[in-house]
Amino acid sequence: MRIILGVGGGIAAYKSAFLLRLFKEAGHEVTVIPTAAAEQFVGRPTWEALSGRPVSTSVFDAVDTVNHVRLGQEADLVVVAPATADLLAQAAAGLAGDLLTNTLLVTRAAVVMVPAMHTEMWQHPATQANVALLRSRGTVVMEPASGRLTGKDTGPGRLPEPDEIFAFALRQVREAPAAGASPLLGKRVVITAGGTREPLDPVRFLGNRSSGKQGVALARAASAAGAEVELIAAHMDVAPPEGVKTARVETALQLRSAALDAAGRADVVIMAAAVADFRPAEQAGTKIKKRDDAADPVITLVRNPDILQELVQQRRDSGTGPELIVGFAAETGDSRGDVLEYARQKLERKGCDLLVLNQVGQDLVFGQDQTSVSILHRSGDEPQTFSGTKDEAAEAIIARVAEELG
Ligand code: CTP
Repeated sequence: MRIILGVGGGIAAYKSAFLLRLFKEAGHEVTVIPTAAAEQFVGRPTWEALSGRPVSTSVFDAVDTVNHVRLGQEADLVVVAPATADLLAQAAAGLAGDLLTNTLLVTRAAVVMVPAMHTEMWQHPATQANVALLRSRGTVVMEPASGRLTGKDTGPGRLPEPDEIFAFALRQVREAPAAGASPLLGKRVVITAGGTREPLDPVRFLGNRSSGKQGVALARAASAAGAEVELIAAHMDVAPPEGVKTARVETALQLRSAALDAAGRADVVIMAAAVADFRPAEQAGTKIKKRDDAADPVITLVRNPDILQELVQQRRDSGTGPELIVGFAAETGDSRGDVLEYARQKLERKGCDLLVLNQVGQDLVFGQDQTSVSILHRSGDEPQTFSGTKDEAAEAIIARVAEELG
């Protein structure tokens, strides 16, 4: 999503640096617009470094790109934190003396204002009247937190914590997306990622080489496209994106129950996890010991359920469920068939809507940053092929998902 972070001139401006980090981590493009007063508290280099974008307070910067209109028009969400009493008054009066207030007048995206000020200023009838007026026009004004303020005083007027503002603001925009907004706004996307581990005993397991990088990149790309993402993470070498709801699982059976449950409330399910096809028939309760007779141990494996197939079956049986179910295929190809042929057969066998094909091998794909994917559609249409980093591939897959949802 394209987010504008407006920063008013209050001491809580420093907390917005953490808010900015959360938005960026979740994959959003953030432009910071401080007021001149805000620059007394946090300097422009901080905002530029953390957002990776130029920062300006004035309508007379970047005039050639008509910044004062463009930023507001292109935004999916505007968050003003901290919103000082002065800024709330300016917004309520429709004043447009600087870049932030211009943007507030131009934008048709969701606007969330997060007040922070001393209790007396917050409770003053002038401020309360401004807040009521803003709310009556559709601006969302978050309630300030109560607690320790700048001086010795305590009371309502404290800026809520960055993670609370983050979750609150994203919820607003998903409930009321702007026209022409990000392609997956309002959509719920479930993504499974990483490799399952099937325990043999309390210290050993059967695992696979999946790093989880592709699934995490998908979660970030879907979140950036405005979706509400639920990540179901098996073992991963990378951290899940901050701000994305993540459920940790270990085994295929745990992943199965989490995925079948989450699918019931999802518009899209993407099965990027490397699910073990087999698990040890028995799990020893204590560590398996070497035996004195020097016999080679035998491990009996049983099949795990095919979760992707079950998701398709659950949708068919119930007549409801995700509009789109996306599978992944990791194929090496062999003397009996090429990778594309195997992928076509897999799409048909599993019955999903899209199948993303990865060609894998010892040094290909697993744990690497570069990848090459082909996206196959159940209609049998010519596959769409894409090479690049896993982040770029994830963006291409999410763009295709958005296109399929129309
Ligand atoms: N998958 C699944 N449940 C399993 C195995 C795989 O849901 N028990 C999903 C994966 O998440 C992936 C897709 O099925 O989206 C394809 O996985 P892959 O391992 O390539 O396919 P397999 O069914 O295991 O086929 P094969 O090993 O025979 O190639």
